[in-house]
Amino acid sequence: MARVVFLNGAFLPADEAKVSVMDRGFLFSDGVYEGVGILGGHLVDNEPHLERFERSMREIQITNPHSRAEWTRLEEELVRRNGVAEGFLYIQITRGVAERDFMFPKAVDPTVMMFTQAKSIANSPAAETGVAVITVEDQRWRRRDIKSVSLLAQVLAKQAAGDAGAQEAWMVEDGFVTEGGSSSAFIVTKAGNIVVRPLSNAILPGITRKSLLRLSKEAGITLEERLFTVQEAYDAAEAFLTSASNFVLPVVSIDGRPVGDGKPGPLTQRLRHLYLDMARVPAEAAQ
Ligand SMILES: Cc1ncc(COP(=O)(O)O)c(C=O)c1O
Repeated sequence: MARVVFLNGAFLPADEAKVSVMDRGFLFSDGVYEGVGILGGHLVDNEPHLERFERSMREIQITNPHSRAEWTRLEEELVRRNGVAEGFLYIQITRGVAERDFMFPKAVDPTVMMFTQAKSIANSPAAETGVAVITVEDQRWRRRDIKSVSLLAQVLAKQAAGDAGAQEAWMVEDGFVTEGGSSSAFIVTKAGNIVVRPLSNAILPGITRKSLLRLSKEAGITLEERLFTVQEAYDAAEAFLTSASNFVLPVVSIDGRPVGDGKPGPLTQRLRHLYLDMARVPAEAAQ
C-alpha cells in the first residue's frame, strides 16, 4: 500500500506531499513535533501526547490550528488510511513558509504534517535481547522540555552509539544522566527501586515515562525521582529505557559494561508487560 501522509489539511500520496524550501522548519528548525505509538490499530496514550504537543506549540508561540478533537480525528484517519496495526505516528508543525528572517513572520499559516511508520513494538527482537547504550556529553540547548524538531545533538549522539555498536546514547550533564537520544533513561537499584531523573527543562517529559511511573506505583514498586550518575548506572541491578516507539526496552550494557548479569532484568520485564497490557486496551475502553 502506498504511504498516505497528511499535509496542511489534505491526505496525499507521500510523493505528492511537497513543502517549500522556504519553510521555517527547513531553514531554522522552527517547529515542534510529537510521536505516538500504535498498537492494535489504536494510538497509545494519545491524550497526553496531544497535551504535550499543545504545550510545545504554546512554548514557541505557534498558534495551534486544530482542536484536540480535530487532531484526534486526523490522526485516526491517517492510521486508518495507512492500515497501520502497529507502529508509530509522527506529527510536525512548523511556523510556516516565509522570506528568511529570524523574527516571526506575520499572518503566516503553520505547516502541519503527519505520517505513520509500521513497526513491531510488542514483539520486537530488541525487547528479547535488550539494547546496548553508550554515554555521551549532552550537547543540547536548555529547553529540552520542548519537543523541538531541532535534533542535531541527538542525531550525533545516536550516530556515535551506532558507530560503537550500540542502539541508544544516554546523554550526560555534570556527571548525571539526563536521558536517551530519543528515550527516557531508568535504572533499578540493587534494592529493587526504580530511579529516574525528575522532570525539569533538562529533559523531555516522556509520556511513556509518565504512564510507567503510574503503573509502577500501582504495582507497589518504590520509585526514586532523582538524578543518577553514570557510575550508578554502571553499578545498577537493571536498566531500561522508555519511548512511544519502543514502550519499555531493557538496557543490558552501558559503555560496554554489562548491567547486572547482562540480560534483561526481571523487574524491567515485569514493567514491560504491565505497559503492554495497558497499551493493548484502547483508550476509550479504559475509561
Ligand atoms: C529526548 C527524548 N526523551 C524522551 C523521549 C521519550 O518520550 P515519549 O515516551 O513521550 O516517547 C523521547 C521520544 O522521542 C525523546 O526524544
